[in-house]
Amino acid sequence: MSTMNSKLTFKRGLELKNRIMMAPMTTKMSFYDGVVTSDEINYYALRSGEIGAVITGAANVQNDGKGWEGELSVASDVFIPGLSKLAAAIKKNGTKAILQIFHGGRMTDSSVLRGVQPVAPSAIAAERPNAETPRALAGDEVLDLIENFKAATRRAIEAGFDGVELHGANTYLLQQFFSPHSNRRDDEWGGTLEKRFSFIDKLVDEVTATVDESGAENFIVGYRFSPEEYENPGIRFTDTLFLVDQLADKGLDYLHISLRDRQLVSVSENHKEKSMLAYIHEQINGRVPLVGVGDVLTSEDAEQVLENSELVAVGRALLIDPHWGAKALDKKDDLIRQEISNYDREELFLANGVWGFMEFMMPDRLGK
Ligand SMILES: Cc1cc2nc3c(=O)[nH]c(=O)nc-3n(C[C@H](O)[C@H](O)[C@H](O)COP(=O)(O)O)c2cc1C
Repeated sequence: MSTMNSKLTFKRGLELKNRIMMAPMTTKMSFYDGVVTSDEINYYALRSGEIGAVITGAANVQNDGKGWEGELSVASDVFIPGLSKLAAAIKKNGTKAILQIFHGGRMTDSSVLRGVQPVAPSAIAAERPNAETPRALAGDEVLDLIENFKAATRRAIEAGFDGVELHGANTYLLQQFFSPHSNRRDDEWGGTLEKRFSFIDKLVDEVTATVDESGAENFIVGYRFSPEEYENPGIRFTDTLFLVDQLADKGLDYLHISLRDRQLVSVSENHKEKSMLAYIHEQINGRVPLVGVGDVLTSEDAEQVLENSELVAVGRALLIDPHWGAKALDKKDDLIRQEISNYDREELFLANGVWGFMEFMMPDRLGK
């Protein structure tokens, strides 16, 4: 049996029937206020059943954490009924359902926030065109944020999810606390590398304690991170090795790297001998399962990721072919769909939001 087909049991008891996870991909299909739509439920249901787990697109834990229009929210109890339907649709045929929870920090704007200025660790704008300067979070607001991540976790449990993934990647708020570019604080949450880790440290402890005290059975907590930033100052690969080393000893069920290419090599001069995925896997050294990702299109690509990780996340390939998982697990790669067109959108539940992303991120796979 291939690695891909084997089961995996997490620390908190949840078992996945195979090693494939759907990578978190925002659909931009939620209602304006973050409520799940039936389009979204159909989209996820179509892609589950065969693979081990689906990680949903990012859901904001408080209103000013909303990063873009059409984003899921888990910021209050009103979202629980919709999220329950979503969890049930994913879980129907034995696929586990994981809700990715996040806050956009400085990577949003006052138009998405209906006039409210974005918040971040410090009042430093991101290095991107038209980025707004955020307001620095006050000390008590940092503590409120942790409470809101805990409340979101409780809601995920109540809605019937099998876990939450803390979204510490892709430049959003958790990463902003760790980054010397976005975090210039001189209180307990900023300064040295260790102090820039202190928010993540406390958040992970509090969220895992919330799960353990809730009595929820087999409910897991994962953490996603990005390995490097291009800003100067910014997160360097050695900082990430420190981050991973710390996180591997915490009560997390898995770590999940965010990479556009599974074979990506660090820009750091001292880490050029192998991929970042391989270095990270070595650093973890079996303490916690690692999820690898990045341009997996075939069963061979997935097995290659699994040489340096315990699980493989697949994103865009599952947008094009919702049955990618069954075909890859069966090594029937010749049956995997390579390209789709406008005519296939309805059948694949690719509403305008996700289609817009696809036009931007994978135009070569969208035939006429
Ligand atoms: C449409 C789209 C939306 C995405 N949204 C998220 C997201 O909400 N959270 C996240 O952590 N990553 C997000 N990603 C990144 C993916 O999880 C994944 O890391 C990336 O697509 C690389 O995997 P792939 O080559 O298999 O697509 C998104 C990617 C795509 C294509």
